[in-house]
Amino acid sequence: MRVIILTPYPEMFPGALGHSIIGNALDNKKFSLETINLHDFGIDKRGSIDDQPFGGGPGMVIRPDVVENALNSVLFNSKSIRKIFLTPSGQKLTQNILQELSQHTEMVILCGRFEGVDQRVIETLGFQEISIGDYVLSGGEIAAQVLVEGCIRLIPGVLGQPQSLLEETFSNNLLEYPHYTRPQVWEDNQGNKHEVPEVLTSGHHEKIERWRKDKSIEKTKTLRPDLFKKGI
Ligand code: ADE
Repeated sequence: MRVIILTPYPEMFPGALGHSIIGNALDNKKFSLETINLHDFGIDKRGSIDDQPFGGGPGMVIRPDVVENALNSVLFNSKSIRKIFLTPSGQKLTQNILQELSQHTEMVILCGRFEGVDQRVIETLGFQEISIGDYVLSGGEIAAQVLVEGCIRLIPGVLGQPQSLLEETFSNNLLEYPHYTRPQVWEDNQGNKHEVPEVLTSGHHEKIERWRKDKSIEKTKTLRPDLFKKGI
């Protein structure tokens, strides 16, 4: 997959995408990451990319001509290019959306700043608005890293253990069951002892499966009743 980021802050990349599993995928050319500095397409000598909103109001809005010129500077290899604009007022990102995005070969991500982007960028240039959650960040760069990280790990061959994709949280609309490791009995700094649930050390695979399923259901009901209602 080829990922192209349009941003006024290209130095924020690769950021988290240069480390760990995704960093290895980048080194091993499982995907490529290009950044385009929106200021290079600014309308004046200062490289201005935004202006005041028509109708008044606070903040600044990214100009559509700047985005179009930045986009035109990219030589695309395919016709079906996904264009995404990251904004808190977009469709909420889900594992299903990540699955779908991970099938594409080219993806352009526009990182918003300021008040947002001119609506014609959405309607004419075809950017889809996506939010990574119901909270406001000061820009789309960290959100872009969240989206790309979530997408790239779904590309076959990126994760060492593909089985873990099947079991992880959100497959089946359930949160993942709790995990335990050594020591089997952990004595904390106050001298209290905490044991690993007995069933996990029983070696009884069917019972372990049942326990994990029950815990998944219990946890989902408590922490994410909305997800639980969607059905298992
Ligand atoms: N930019 C600022 N806040 C954001 C959010 N919640 N999701 C995506 N992009 C954003």
